[in-house]
Amino acid sequence: MKNEKVTIFDTTLRDGEQAPGATMSPEDKLEIALSLERLGVDIIEAGFPVSSPGDFASVQNVARHIKESCVCGLARCMVKDIDAVIEAVKPAKHKRVHIFLATSKIHLDYKLKKSQDEIVAMAVEAVKYARKRMDNIEFSPEDASRTEKAFLYRILEEVIKAGATTVNIPDTVGYSAPEEYGSVIQGICNSVPNINKAVVSTHCHDDLGLAVANSLAGVSNGARQVECTINGIGERAGNASMEEIVMAIRTRSDLYHLTTGINAKEFYRISRMVSKATGFIVPPNKAIVGANAFRHESGIHQDGVLKERRTYEIMNPEDVGVPATEGLVLGKHSGRHAFKDRLKGLGIELSEVDLDKAFARFKHLADKKKEIYDEDLAAIVEDEGHQTSVAYTLVDLISTSGTNISPEVVVTVLYKGKKYAQKSTGDGPVDACYKAIESLTKLKANLLDYGIKSVTQGKDALGEVTVKVAFEGETVIGRAASTDIIEASAKAYINAINKFVAQQRLKP
Ligand code: KIV
Ligand code: ZN
Repeated sequence: MKNEKVTIFDTTLRDGEQAPGATMSPEDKLEIALSLERLGVDIIEAGFPVSSPGDFASVQNVARHIKESCVCGLARCMVKDIDAVIEAVKPAKHKRVHIFLATSKIHLDYKLKKSQDEIVAMAVEAVKYARKRMDNIEFSPEDASRTEKAFLYRILEEVIKAGATTVNIPDTVGYSAPEEYGSVIQGICNSVPNINKAVVSTHCHDDLGLAVANSLAGVSNGARQVECTINGIGERAGNASMEEIVMAIRTRSDLYHLTTGINAKEFYRISRMVSKATGFIVPPNKAIVGANAFRHESGIHQDGVLKERRTYEIMNPEDVGVPATEGLVLGKHSGRHAFKDRLKGLGIELSEVDLDKAFARFKHLADKKKEIYDEDLAAIVEDEGHQTSVAYTLVDLISTSGTNISPEVVVTVLYKGKKYAQKSTGDGPVDACYKAIESLTKLKANLLDYGIKSVTQGKDALGEVTVKVAFEGETVIGRAASTDIIEASAKAYINAINKFVAQQRLKP
Protein backbone atom coordinates (compact mmCIF):
# COMPACT_ATOMS: atom_id res chain seq x y z
CA MET A 1 0.00 0.00 0.00
CA LYS A 2 1.40 3.43 -0.98
CA ASN A 3 1.46 5.92 1.89
CA GLU A 4 -0.50 9.08 1.06
CA LYS A 5 1.26 12.44 1.43
CA VAL A 6 0.23 14.97 4.07
CA THR A 7 0.84 18.60 3.10
CA ILE A 8 2.85 20.50 5.71
CA PHE A 9 1.69 24.11 6.18
CA ASP A 10 4.00 26.08 8.43
CA THR A 11 2.68 29.10 10.30
CA THR A 12 5.74 29.94 12.45
CA LEU A 13 5.97 33.38 10.83
CA ARG A 14 2.27 34.17 11.34
CA ASP A 15 0.58 32.28 14.20
CA GLY A 16 4.03 31.57 15.70
CA GLU A 17 4.82 35.26 15.79
CA GLN A 18 1.50 35.87 17.58
CA ALA A 19 3.06 34.23 20.67
CA PRO A 20 3.43 37.00 23.25
CA GLY A 21 6.95 38.45 22.96
CA ALA A 22 7.89 36.45 19.84
CA THR A 23 8.33 39.36 17.42
CA MET A 24 10.88 38.44 14.75
CA SER A 25 12.96 40.84 12.69
CA PRO A 26 12.44 40.90 8.89
CA GLU A 27 15.94 39.44 8.45
CA ASP A 28 15.18 36.58 10.83
CA LYS A 29 11.88 35.94 9.06
CA LEU A 30 13.58 35.62 5.69
CA GLU A 31 16.26 33.35 7.10
CA ILE A 32 13.58 31.15 8.70
CA ALA A 33 11.52 31.09 5.48
CA LEU A 34 14.57 29.97 3.47
CA SER A 35 15.23 27.25 6.04
CA LEU A 36 11.59 26.15 5.94
CA GLU A 37 11.96 25.76 2.19
CA ARG A 38 15.12 23.68 2.69
CA LEU A 39 13.22 21.63 5.22
CA GLY A 40 10.70 20.78 2.49
CA VAL A 41 7.68 22.65 3.88
CA ASP A 42 4.89 22.76 1.27
CA ILE A 43 3.28 26.04 2.33
CA ILE A 44 4.80 28.92 4.31
CA GLU A 45 2.30 31.27 5.92
CA ALA A 46 4.52 34.35 5.98
CA GLY A 47 2.26 36.81 7.80
CA PHE A 48 -0.89 38.91 7.89
CA PRO A 49 -0.03 41.63 5.34
CA VAL A 50 -2.83 44.09 6.12
CA SER A 51 -1.95 44.15 9.83
CA SER A 52 1.01 46.54 9.44
CA PRO A 53 3.33 47.95 6.76
CA GLY A 54 6.14 45.92 8.38
CA ASP A 55 4.19 42.68 8.04
CA PHE A 56 3.34 43.49 4.44
CA ALA A 57 7.02 44.14 3.65
CA SER A 58 8.07 40.91 5.38
CA VAL A 59 5.58 38.77 3.44
CA GLN A 60 6.67 40.45 0.21
CA ASN A 61 10.34 39.89 1.06
CA VAL A 62 9.68 36.18 1.69
CA ALA A 63 7.68 35.94 -1.56
CA ARG A 64 10.62 37.45 -3.48
CA HIS A 65 13.11 34.85 -2.24
CA ILE A 66 11.15 31.59 -1.97
CA LYS A 67 11.34 29.43 -5.07
CA GLU A 68 9.70 26.08 -4.38
CA SER A 69 7.36 26.36 -1.38
CA CYS A 70 4.00 28.08 -1.73
CA VAL A 71 3.86 31.48 0.05
CA CYS A 72 0.63 32.31 1.84
CA GLY A 73 -0.78 35.36 3.61
CA LEU A 74 -3.70 35.68 6.03
CA ALA A 75 -6.80 37.82 5.41
CA ARG A 76 -10.10 38.57 7.08
CA CYS A 77 -13.22 38.54 4.89
CA MET A 78 -12.41 42.05 3.70
CA VAL A 79 -11.42 43.29 0.29
CA LYS A 80 -8.52 45.38 1.66
CA ASP A 81 -7.12 42.32 3.48
CA ILE A 82 -7.38 40.07 0.42
CA ASP A 83 -5.89 42.75 -1.84
CA ALA A 84 -2.97 43.16 0.58
CA VAL A 85 -2.23 39.41 0.47
CA ILE A 86 -2.50 39.27 -3.32
CA GLU A 87 -0.07 42.20 -3.66
CA ALA A 88 2.37 40.91 -1.02
CA VAL A 89 2.65 37.34 -2.37
CA LYS A 90 2.72 38.46 -6.02
CA PRO A 91 6.48 37.81 -6.54
CA ALA A 92 6.19 34.16 -5.39
CA LYS A 93 6.05 31.31 -7.90
CA HIS A 94 3.39 29.48 -5.87
CA LYS A 95 0.96 31.52 -3.76
CA ARG A 96 -2.14 31.21 -1.61
CA VAL A 97 -4.65 33.45 0.18
CA HIS A 98 -5.85 32.23 3.58
CA ILE A 99 -9.21 33.76 4.52
CA PHE A 100 -10.77 33.29 7.94
CA LEU A 101 -14.05 34.12 9.68
CA ALA A 102 -15.37 32.92 13.03
CA THR A 103 -18.32 30.51 12.95
CA SER A 104 -18.99 29.39 16.55
CA LYS A 105 -22.09 30.67 18.36
CA ILE A 106 -20.03 32.39 21.05
CA HIS A 107 -18.03 34.33 18.42
CA LEU A 108 -21.13 35.20 16.39
CA ASP A 109 -23.12 36.38 19.41
CA TYR A 110 -20.44 38.32 21.26
CA LYS A 111 -17.62 39.20 18.90
CA LEU A 112 -19.17 39.60 15.46
CA LYS A 113 -22.82 40.15 16.44
CA LYS A 114 -23.96 38.57 13.18
CA SER A 115 -26.41 35.83 12.17
CA GLN A 116 -25.32 32.56 10.55
CA ASP A 117 -26.78 33.70 7.22
CA GLU A 118 -24.73 36.89 7.34
CA ILE A 119 -21.56 34.91 8.12
CA VAL A 120 -22.11 32.54 5.17
CA ALA A 121 -22.72 35.50 2.87
CA MET A 122 -19.53 37.26 4.02
CA ALA A 123 -17.42 34.11 3.64
CA VAL A 124 -18.78 33.29 0.19
CA GLU A 125 -18.31 36.83 -1.06
CA ALA A 126 -14.70 36.96 0.20
CA VAL A 127 -13.79 33.56 -1.27
CA LYS A 128 -15.38 34.48 -4.65
CA TYR A 129 -13.49 37.78 -4.69
CA ALA A 130 -10.19 36.05 -3.95
CA ARG A 131 -10.80 33.18 -6.36
CA LYS A 132 -11.27 35.60 -9.26
CA ARG A 133 -7.70 36.76 -8.57
CA MET A 134 -5.93 33.59 -7.45
CA ASP A 135 -6.37 29.83 -7.87
CA ASN A 136 -5.23 28.69 -4.46
CA ILE A 137 -7.68 29.70 -1.72
CA GLU A 138 -7.85 28.43 1.84
CA PHE A 139 -10.81 29.14 4.10
CA SER A 140 -10.81 28.74 7.90
CA PRO A 141 -13.97 28.83 9.99
CA GLU A 142 -12.33 30.20 13.14
CA ASP A 143 -13.26 28.28 16.32
CA ALA A 144 -14.50 25.45 14.05
CA SER A 145 -14.19 22.79 16.74
CA ARG A 146 -16.78 24.66 18.88
CA THR A 147 -19.06 25.39 15.91
CA GLU A 148 -22.46 23.73 15.61
CA LYS A 149 -21.91 20.79 13.20
CA ALA A 150 -24.78 21.50 10.79
CA PHE A 151 -23.60 25.11 10.39
CA LEU A 152 -19.98 24.02 9.95
CA TYR A 153 -20.96 21.61 7.14
CA ARG A 154 -23.12 24.29 5.52
CA ILE A 155 -20.46 27.01 5.46
CA LEU A 156 -17.80 24.57 4.22
CA GLU A 157 -20.04 23.44 1.37
CA GLU A 158 -20.73 27.06 0.41
CA VAL A 159 -17.09 28.22 0.47
CA ILE A 160 -16.01 25.20 -1.59
CA LYS A 161 -18.73 26.09 -4.12
CA ALA A 162 -17.37 29.64 -4.11
CA GLY A 163 -13.87 28.38 -4.95
CA ALA A 164 -12.02 27.40 -1.75
CA THR A 165 -9.45 24.70 -2.49
CA THR A 166 -8.46 23.98 1.13
CA VAL A 167 -10.75 24.06 4.16
CA ASN A 168 -8.92 24.38 7.44
CA ILE A 169 -10.54 23.35 10.72
CA PRO A 170 -9.08 25.38 13.60
CA ASP A 171 -9.30 24.25 17.18
CA THR A 172 -8.69 27.92 17.89
CA VAL A 173 -8.79 27.76 21.68
CA GLY A 174 -7.22 24.30 22.07
CA TYR A 175 -10.40 22.91 23.65
CA SER A 176 -10.81 19.67 21.71
CA ALA A 177 -9.80 16.18 22.77
CA PRO A 178 -8.30 13.86 20.13
CA GLU A 179 -11.36 11.58 19.73
CA GLU A 180 -13.58 14.61 19.41
CA TYR A 181 -11.39 16.48 16.92
CA GLY A 182 -10.94 13.29 14.88
CA SER A 183 -14.70 12.88 14.72
CA VAL A 184 -15.15 16.53 13.59
CA ILE A 185 -12.82 15.82 10.66
CA GLN A 186 -14.54 12.51 9.92
CA GLY A 187 -17.95 14.20 10.04
CA ILE A 188 -16.76 16.84 7.56
CA CYS A 189 -15.33 14.20 5.20
CA ASN A 190 -18.59 12.21 5.33
CA SER A 191 -21.17 14.99 5.40
CA VAL A 192 -20.01 17.91 3.23
CA PRO A 193 -21.25 16.86 -0.23
CA ASN A 194 -18.49 18.58 -2.27
CA ILE A 195 -15.62 17.88 0.16
CA ASN A 196 -13.76 15.91 -2.53
CA LYS A 197 -13.10 19.27 -4.24
CA ALA A 198 -11.00 20.57 -1.32
CA VAL A 199 -8.20 19.46 0.96
CA VAL A 200 -9.18 19.21 4.63
CA SER A 201 -6.63 20.73 7.01
CA THR A 202 -5.96 20.69 10.76
CA HIS A 203 -4.96 23.73 12.84
CA CYS A 204 -4.69 22.88 16.53
CA HIS A 205 -3.70 25.00 19.51
CA ASP A 206 -2.03 23.60 22.58
CA ASP A 207 -3.98 25.04 25.52
CA LEU A 208 -4.58 21.54 26.94
CA GLY A 209 -1.30 20.15 25.60
CA LEU A 210 -3.25 18.21 22.95
CA ALA A 211 -2.35 20.05 19.73
CA VAL A 212 -0.13 17.31 18.29
CA ALA A 213 -2.48 14.51 19.39
CA ASN A 214 -5.44 16.37 17.87
CA SER A 215 -3.59 16.99 14.58
CA LEU A 216 -2.71 13.29 14.35
CA ALA A 217 -6.34 12.37 15.08
CA GLY A 218 -7.22 14.73 12.23
CA VAL A 219 -4.96 13.04 9.69
CA SER A 220 -6.13 9.61 10.84
CA ASN A 221 -9.65 10.70 9.96
CA GLY A 222 -9.04 12.14 6.51
CA ALA A 223 -7.25 15.50 6.86
CA ARG A 224 -4.41 15.81 4.34
CA GLN A 225 -2.90 19.12 5.42
CA VAL A 226 -1.49 19.93 8.86
CA GLU A 227 -0.88 23.48 10.06
CA CYS A 228 1.93 23.67 12.57
CA THR A 229 4.94 25.66 13.78
CA ILE A 230 8.59 25.00 14.58
CA ASN A 231 9.01 24.34 18.33
CA GLY A 232 5.20 24.58 18.60
CA ILE A 233 5.32 28.35 19.14
CA GLY A 234 2.12 30.32 18.68
CA GLU A 235 -0.73 32.23 20.25
CA ARG A 236 -0.98 31.55 24.04
CA ALA A 237 0.23 27.95 24.69
CA GLY A 238 1.21 27.62 21.04
CA ASN A 239 0.35 25.55 17.98
CA ALA A 240 1.00 21.92 17.10
CA SER A 241 4.73 21.35 16.78
CA MET A 242 5.85 20.42 13.27
CA GLU A 243 8.80 18.32 14.35
CA GLU A 244 6.60 16.21 16.63
CA ILE A 245 3.89 15.63 14.02
CA VAL A 246 6.32 14.78 11.23
CA MET A 247 8.36 12.42 13.40
CA ALA A 248 5.20 10.71 14.72
CA ILE A 249 3.97 10.16 11.16
CA ARG A 250 7.40 8.86 10.16
CA THR A 251 8.25 6.78 13.24
CA ARG A 252 4.77 5.25 13.35
CA SER A 253 4.23 4.80 9.62
CA ASP A 254 2.95 1.33 10.57
CA LEU A 255 0.03 3.12 12.25
CA TYR A 256 -0.58 6.21 10.12
CA HIS A 257 0.38 4.92 6.63
CA LEU A 258 1.19 8.48 5.63
CA THR A 259 4.23 10.41 4.50
CA THR A 260 5.44 14.04 4.28
CA GLY A 261 7.96 15.79 2.07
CA ILE A 262 9.99 16.94 5.08
CA ASN A 263 13.75 16.49 5.34
CA ALA A 264 13.80 15.83 9.10
CA LYS A 265 17.60 16.27 9.29
CA GLU A 266 16.97 20.03 9.24
CA PHE A 267 14.84 20.01 12.40
CA TYR A 268 17.54 20.60 15.00
CA ARG A 269 19.03 23.51 13.11
CA ILE A 270 15.77 25.29 12.34
CA SER A 271 14.58 24.75 15.90
CA ARG A 272 17.66 26.63 17.17
CA MET A 273 17.16 29.31 14.54
CA VAL A 274 13.56 29.95 15.63
CA SER A 275 14.60 29.92 19.27
CA LYS A 276 17.31 32.44 18.48
CA ALA A 277 14.97 34.72 16.51
CA THR A 278 12.22 34.72 19.15
CA GLY A 279 14.33 34.46 22.29
CA PHE A 280 12.18 31.45 23.35
CA ILE A 281 14.50 28.87 24.81
CA VAL A 282 13.65 25.26 23.84
CA PRO A 283 12.93 23.31 27.07
CA PRO A 284 15.46 20.48 27.59
CA ASN A 285 12.68 17.88 27.71
CA LYS A 286 11.03 19.08 24.48
CA ALA A 287 10.35 16.08 22.21
CA ILE A 288 12.60 15.74 19.12
CA VAL A 289 14.68 18.94 19.52
CA GLY A 290 15.14 19.36 23.30
CA ALA A 291 18.69 18.95 24.67
CA ASN A 292 17.65 15.84 26.60
CA ALA A 293 15.51 14.26 23.88
CA PHE A 294 18.21 11.70 23.10
CA ARG A 295 20.21 11.66 26.34
CA HIS A 296 20.14 8.71 28.70
CA GLU A 297 20.87 9.33 32.37
CA SER A 298 19.86 6.13 34.10
CA GLY A 299 22.53 3.42 34.20
CA ILE A 300 20.04 0.76 33.13
CA HIS A 301 19.09 2.79 30.05
CA GLN A 302 22.72 3.56 29.18
CA ASP A 303 23.59 -0.10 29.47
CA GLY A 304 20.63 -1.04 27.27
CA VAL A 305 21.52 1.53 24.59
CA LEU A 306 25.13 0.37 24.51
CA LYS A 307 23.98 -3.22 23.99
CA GLU A 308 21.30 -2.37 21.45
CA ARG A 309 20.27 1.20 20.69
CA ARG A 310 16.64 0.30 19.98
CA THR A 311 16.08 -0.84 23.58
CA TYR A 312 15.51 2.77 24.62
CA GLU A 313 15.64 4.82 21.40
CA ILE A 314 12.75 4.93 18.97
CA MET A 315 14.45 7.41 16.63
CA ASN A 316 18.06 8.13 15.70
CA PRO A 317 19.24 11.57 16.82
CA GLU A 318 21.04 11.99 13.47
CA ASP A 319 17.68 11.59 11.68
CA VAL A 320 16.53 14.93 13.10
CA GLY A 321 19.94 16.57 12.80
CA VAL A 322 20.85 16.44 16.50
CA PRO A 323 24.64 16.61 16.73
CA ALA A 324 26.32 13.65 18.43
CA THR A 325 26.54 14.73 22.06
CA GLU A 326 29.27 12.31 23.01
CA GLY A 327 32.85 12.68 21.92
CA LEU A 328 35.27 15.35 20.90
CA VAL A 329 34.86 16.33 17.30
CA LEU A 330 37.46 18.98 16.53
CA GLY A 331 40.39 20.68 18.24
CA LYS A 332 43.07 23.31 17.89
CA HIS A 333 44.92 21.43 15.15
CA SER A 334 41.94 20.65 12.97
CA GLY A 335 42.13 22.20 9.53
CA ARG A 336 39.63 24.05 7.36
CA HIS A 337 38.80 20.88 5.47
CA ALA A 338 37.89 18.92 8.61
CA PHE A 339 35.91 21.92 9.84
CA LYS A 340 33.96 22.13 6.58
CA ASP A 341 33.36 18.36 6.59
CA ARG A 342 32.07 18.39 10.14
CA LEU A 343 29.68 21.26 9.34
CA LYS A 344 28.45 19.31 6.34
CA GLY A 345 27.80 16.37 8.65
CA LEU A 346 25.62 18.69 10.71
CA GLY A 347 23.71 19.71 7.57
CA ILE A 348 25.33 23.18 7.51
CA GLU A 349 26.67 24.43 4.19
CA LEU A 350 28.17 27.90 4.08
CA SER A 351 29.37 30.14 1.29
CA GLU A 352 33.20 30.37 1.05
CA VAL A 353 33.10 33.85 2.63
CA ASP A 354 30.94 32.73 5.58
CA LEU A 355 33.07 29.59 5.92
CA ASP A 356 36.24 31.68 6.20
CA LYS A 357 34.67 33.84 8.90
CA ALA A 358 33.33 30.82 10.80
CA PHE A 359 36.70 29.06 10.53
CA ALA A 360 38.53 32.09 11.93
CA ARG A 361 36.11 32.10 14.84
CA PHE A 362 36.59 28.37 15.32
CA LYS A 363 40.39 28.85 15.54
CA HIS A 364 39.91 31.66 18.01
CA LEU A 365 37.66 29.45 20.13
CA ALA A 366 40.03 26.48 19.85
CA ASP A 367 42.72 28.64 21.45
CA LYS A 368 40.54 29.13 24.51
CA LYS A 369 38.65 25.84 24.62
CA LYS A 370 40.41 22.51 24.28
CA GLU A 371 37.47 20.38 23.21
CA ILE A 372 35.07 21.59 20.59
CA TYR A 373 31.75 19.80 20.26
CA ASP A 374 29.10 19.84 17.56
CA GLU A 375 26.97 22.18 19.67
CA ASP A 376 29.89 24.64 19.78
CA LEU A 377 30.15 24.51 16.00
CA ALA A 378 26.42 25.17 15.65
CA ALA A 379 26.77 28.19 17.98
CA ILE A 380 29.79 29.52 16.05
CA VAL A 381 27.96 29.31 12.75
CA GLU A 382 24.81 30.88 14.13
CA ASP A 383 26.84 33.71 15.55
CA GLU A 384 28.73 34.27 12.35
CA GLY A 385 26.09 33.57 9.78
CA HIS A 386 23.66 35.98 8.23
CA GLN A 387 24.80 39.09 10.05
CA THR A 388 23.94 41.01 6.93
CA SER A 389 23.87 44.54 8.25
CA VAL A 390 26.35 44.95 11.07
CA ALA A 391 26.50 48.58 12.15
CA TYR A 392 28.61 48.07 15.29
CA THR A 393 31.31 45.45 15.94
CA LEU A 394 32.87 44.80 19.32
CA VAL A 395 36.61 45.33 18.96
CA ASP A 396 37.76 45.15 22.55
CA LEU A 397 36.41 44.74 26.04
CA ILE A 398 38.31 45.28 29.29
CA SER A 399 36.39 44.46 32.41
CA THR A 400 37.43 44.69 36.06
CA SER A 401 35.19 43.52 38.85
CA GLY A 402 35.53 41.88 42.23
CA THR A 403 33.84 41.38 45.58
CA ASN A 404 35.10 44.64 47.03
CA ILE A 405 35.58 46.90 44.03
CA SER A 406 33.01 48.57 41.87
CA PRO A 407 32.88 47.07 38.35
CA GLU A 408 34.42 49.07 35.56
CA VAL A 409 34.58 48.34 31.83
CA VAL A 410 36.09 49.88 28.73
CA VAL A 411 34.25 48.93 25.56
CA THR A 412 35.65 49.64 22.09
CA VAL A 413 33.44 49.31 19.02
CA LEU A 414 33.98 49.75 15.31
CA TYR A 415 31.43 51.99 13.61
CA LYS A 416 31.67 53.10 9.98
CA GLY A 417 35.36 52.16 9.88
CA LYS A 418 36.34 54.13 13.02
CA LYS A 419 37.03 52.88 16.54
CA TYR A 420 35.23 54.43 19.51
CA ALA A 421 35.92 53.61 23.17
CA GLN A 422 33.87 54.27 26.30
CA LYS A 423 34.57 53.66 29.96
CA SER A 424 31.67 52.95 32.31
CA THR A 425 30.74 51.65 35.76
CA GLY A 426 27.54 49.89 36.80
CA ASP A 427 25.77 47.57 39.20
CA GLY A 428 27.76 44.68 37.79
CA PRO A 429 30.09 44.15 34.81
CA VAL A 430 27.16 43.41 32.47
CA ASP A 431 25.31 46.56 33.54
CA ALA A 432 28.53 48.58 33.13
CA CYS A 433 29.01 47.10 29.65
CA TYR A 434 25.48 47.92 28.59
CA LYS A 435 25.83 51.50 29.85
CA ALA A 436 29.04 51.91 27.84
CA ILE A 437 27.40 50.46 24.70
CA GLU A 438 24.35 52.70 25.06
CA SER A 439 26.57 55.72 25.39
CA LEU A 440 28.63 54.70 22.35
CA THR A 441 25.62 54.02 20.13
CA LYS A 442 23.52 56.87 21.57
CA LEU A 443 20.52 54.54 21.54
CA LYS A 444 17.98 54.53 24.35
CA ALA A 445 17.48 50.86 25.04
CA ASN A 446 15.44 49.06 27.66
CA LEU A 447 16.66 45.58 28.59
CA LEU A 448 13.49 43.48 29.03
CA ASP A 449 15.03 40.07 29.49
CA TYR A 450 18.48 38.51 29.87
CA GLY A 451 19.24 34.79 29.83
CA ILE A 452 22.45 32.77 29.83
CA LYS A 453 23.02 29.06 29.26
CA SER A 454 26.03 26.93 28.60
CA VAL A 455 26.21 25.40 25.12
CA THR A 456 28.02 22.23 26.24
CA GLN A 457 29.27 20.71 29.46
CA GLY A 458 32.58 21.62 31.13
CA LYS A 459 34.04 24.66 32.85
CA ASP A 460 35.36 26.01 29.56
CA ALA A 461 31.98 25.71 27.83
CA LEU A 462 30.67 28.49 25.60
CA GLY A 463 28.16 30.70 27.39
CA GLU A 464 25.26 31.68 25.17
CA VAL A 465 23.52 34.93 26.09
CA THR A 466 20.06 35.92 24.84
CA VAL A 467 18.74 39.43 25.43
CA LYS A 468 15.38 40.97 24.70
CA VAL A 469 15.71 44.71 24.23
CA ALA A 470 13.08 47.40 23.58
CA PHE A 471 14.03 50.41 21.44
CA GLU A 472 11.42 53.09 20.91
CA GLY A 473 8.68 50.53 21.58
CA GLU A 474 10.16 47.88 19.24
CA THR A 475 11.38 44.64 20.77
CA VAL A 476 14.47 42.98 19.35
CA ILE A 477 16.25 39.75 20.30
CA GLY A 478 20.04 39.58 20.43
CA ARG A 479 22.15 36.51 20.94
CA ALA A 480 25.87 35.68 21.10
CA ALA A 481 28.19 33.03 22.49
CA SER A 482 31.69 33.18 23.96
CA THR A 483 33.78 31.39 26.56
CA ASP A 484 33.81 34.78 28.36
CA ILE A 485 30.27 35.53 29.52
CA ILE A 486 30.83 39.29 29.78
CA GLU A 487 31.99 39.30 26.17
CA ALA A 488 28.96 37.15 25.18
CA SER A 489 26.71 39.63 27.04
CA ALA A 490 28.23 42.62 25.24
CA LYS A 491 28.03 40.90 21.84
CA ALA A 492 24.40 39.85 22.40
CA TYR A 493 23.49 43.47 23.22
CA ILE A 494 25.34 44.74 20.16
CA ASN A 495 23.63 42.05 18.08
CA ALA A 496 20.23 43.41 19.23
CA ILE A 497 21.33 46.97 18.42
CA ASN A 498 22.50 45.94 14.94
CA LYS A 499 19.19 44.24 14.28
CA PHE A 500 17.30 47.34 15.36
CA VAL A 501 19.46 49.60 13.17
CA ALA A 502 18.89 47.23 10.21
CA GLN A 503 15.14 47.27 10.80
CA GLN A 504 15.09 51.07 10.84
CA ARG A 505 16.91 51.10 7.49
CA LEU A 506 14.37 48.68 5.98
CA LYS A 507 11.41 50.83 7.04
CA PRO A 508 9.48 52.33 4.13
O1 KIV B 1 -6.34 29.60 15.49
C1 KIV B 1 -7.01 30.07 14.54
O2 KIV B 1 -8.23 29.98 14.48
C2 KIV B 1 -6.27 30.77 13.51
C3 KIV B 1 -7.01 31.11 12.26
C4 KIV B 1 -6.67 32.48 11.78
C5 KIV B 1 -6.74 30.07 11.23
O3 KIV B 1 -5.07 30.98 13.62
ZN1 ZN C 1 -4.21 29.69 15.21
